[in-house]
Amino acid sequence: MAITASAPAKTILFGEHFVVYGEPAIAMAIDKRAYVQVTLRNDKRVYVLSKDLGLSGYFENGLFFAEKGNRSTHVKLKPIMVAAEKVLDQYHEEPVGIDIEIDSSIPVAAGLGSSAATVAATTLAVSKLLNMELSRENIFRIAYDAEKLIHGTPSGIDPTIATYGGVVLYQKTKGLSPLKVEADIPLIVGNTRIERSTGSLITEVRRVHDSYSSVVGPIIKSGGEIARTATKALQSGDLTTLGELMNINQALLYAIGVSNEALESLVFAARKGGALGAKLTGAGGGGCMIALAEPENLNSVEKAIERAGGRAFVARRTMDGARIER
Ligand code: MEV
Repeated sequence: MAITASAPAKTILFGEHFVVYGEPAIAMAIDKRAYVQVTLRNDKRVYVLSKDLGLSGYFENGLFFAEKGNRSTHVKLKPIMVAAEKVLDQYHEEPVGIDIEIDSSIPVAAGLGSSAATVAATTLAVSKLLNMELSRENIFRIAYDAEKLIHGTPSGIDPTIATYGGVVLYQKTKGLSPLKVEADIPLIVGNTRIERSTGSLITEVRRVHDSYSSVVGPIIKSGGEIARTATKALQSGDLTTLGELMNINQALLYAIGVSNEALESLVFAARKGGALGAKLTGAGGGGCMIALAEPENLNSVEKAIERAGGRAFVARRTMDGARIER
């Protein structure tokens, strides 16, 4: 029997990095998903094949054996194995082996939460295969623990949105509050195609914060205020205010050193192309930016981003978090 589960990509609308320091952030699940198919094996191996990354390998008795890929195969596939093993730890029957096949349309290392989505979908798929009823909270916890292996000290916002979907206000100490947003939030995502590591960007922001805490502290607090103000604008569907807040948020992210030339060039192109606001999304340092635009300007903004060298697509909100496909 094969089970397939999926989980969505995310965009952070407001508050990335500041959320690591306890401020609120707002994230939205979008209509790109990671799909994970699992089947039982006859042996005790956990075998992982990532079609999009072109990597494969298996884990047996805590040891990893790479099959396809390079020296990073282990690092990239380990969170998947950890998620599967954490589910197996809660399975009180005979030990089993599992084949895990990943097929994802989410750009990797680009700020769209591809690893969190893959790990959340793996957790759900493996638990379903073993006829276990894991709560959403349990799926989130397992995905978060696996995420910590790749990103060091993440806030938990990526696995939250991959698990629950929708639009959420997230704060480390309080967890998530789903936001009821009636308005369409018309977004264009622009990918710089520069891959980067979330973990090292978090570490770099920590260095800047610790070196200049009296300067960076108020910037972080201000980031939190942006997310609080944006919550009201989202609920009332005030796109103009949301666009302005995105621009201010981008300036703060620039100040803490996580923007770069490629991101700035896409952000300015989007604004010139008619966007109400634009900012990087996720950890920065490359990866993706997002632009908010009235529906009639989506095409012109998308084209402006492409002309500036980005790969652009229109992103739609999805309410579905991790789910079983079949
Ligand atoms: C990464 O998508 C968002 C960061 O704020 C890190 C995190 O919150 O885990 C940069």
